[in-house]
Amino acid sequence: MLASKPQRVFITGAGGYIGSRVTEFALRAGYIVHGLTRTPAKAARLRALGAIPIEGDMSQLDLLRAEASKADIVVHLADAWVDDFSQPYDNVVKIDGAAVDAMTFGLSQSPSQRRLFVGTSGVGVAKPDENGGETDEDAPEDPNPINGRIRCEKHILSKAGEGIKVCIMRLPPFVYGRGGSGVKLFMEVFAKVGAVVRIGEGNVQMSVVHVDDAARAYVCALEKACVEPGVTKKVYNVTDTSDVSFRKFTDAMAATLGLPVRAMEVPEAMEFAGPLVAGFFSGRIRGKGDRARAELGWIPTEVGIIEDIRNGSYVKVAKEITATQA
Ligand SMILES: NC(=O)c1ccc[n+]([C@@H]2O[C@H](COP(=O)([O-])OP(=O)(O)OC[C@H]3O[C@@H](n4cnc5c(N)ncnc54)[C@H](OP(=O)(O)O)[C@@H]3O)[C@@H](O)[C@H]2O)c1
Repeated sequence: MLASKPQRVFITGAGGYIGSRVTEFALRAGYIVHGLTRTPAKAARLRALGAIPIEGDMSQLDLLRAEASKADIVVHLADAWVDDFSQPYDNVVKIDGAAVDAMTFGLSQSPSQRRLFVGTSGVGVAKPDENGGETDEDAPEDPNPINGRIRCEKHILSKAGEGIKVCIMRLPPFVYGRGGSGVKLFMEVFAKVGAVVRIGEGNVQMSVVHVDDAARAYVCALEKACVEPGVTKKVYNVTDTSDVSFRKFTDAMAATLGLPVRAMEVPEAMEFAGPLVAGFFSGRIRGKGDRARAELGWIPTEVGIIEDIRNGSYVKVAKEITATQA
């Protein structure tokens, strides 16, 4: 840790899938964590971990400003999209923008020397390489993204230098592990429709990261992001590998669920399993995580996604899904 006195981190989305792992690892690393959640049960879990729960919503701007003004670092993981993926993304941009304005202003008033704002974005904001290769953080933005997240990212980056430093953590579309998140969600969808969807041959590759590795990357950022003199902003891809083909991915899900694979094109996938499946399973999102490794000293160590689906945490998930359907 950089400072001699424990640093205080305010985490939004602290009770979520990734936020609860970031909270746990940050506490272990010696930080004091204040974690925002709207949910009493998650507040109780945060307290049990040793964090201080802050019960509230992203729309409570005074609360956000006050928490940020007493923090050394703010980690923003809350995402207003998760409550309703069908809402217009403009809603998300509006809610997020106001919350970011409040937190960055609060942080700029903090007596801390660190004043780092860590925002969350997606590797998918970058335009995919035309030849199917990997992109880095300097790639141009995607003109046809899955959502409008780049607008949130740009808004956060625009705050750099206004008395604070800014670091963006771009996560891949599949953060997996511990039987949760997108893999679980899509397994549930496929169980309902009776087949695992593959777009075309499934040879397209994608980036992934295990949730614990992702959380460790955030803790590396708490310690090392923007510490060089004069550096006020940084963007990092948080990807372990970009070499997972949708073919292997869908084969693994089908084997674990005991379902067939159905190959189809995007319009049929939309009809058969919905726009979320069609969007996430047709992506060419391949962002390499070399910068985070080199500059933050991040070393991913967890089990790979295919192994985790075939023989790890998703085996129990598949059993539970099958049992509820029986
Ligand atoms: N999981 C992935 O595969 C993945 C991939 C790419 C990017 N990401 C990004 O990573 C971040 C964390 O995702 P996650 O997987 O941990 O999602 P999650 O488990 O759904 O957590 C999202 C959190 O957002 C909070 N939230 C939503 N609306 C809020 C509001 N109006 N006010 C306050 N809090 C609100 C929720 O807080 P409550 O505790 O109150 O419910 C929840 O804890 C998000 O920005 C997400 O877009 C995730």
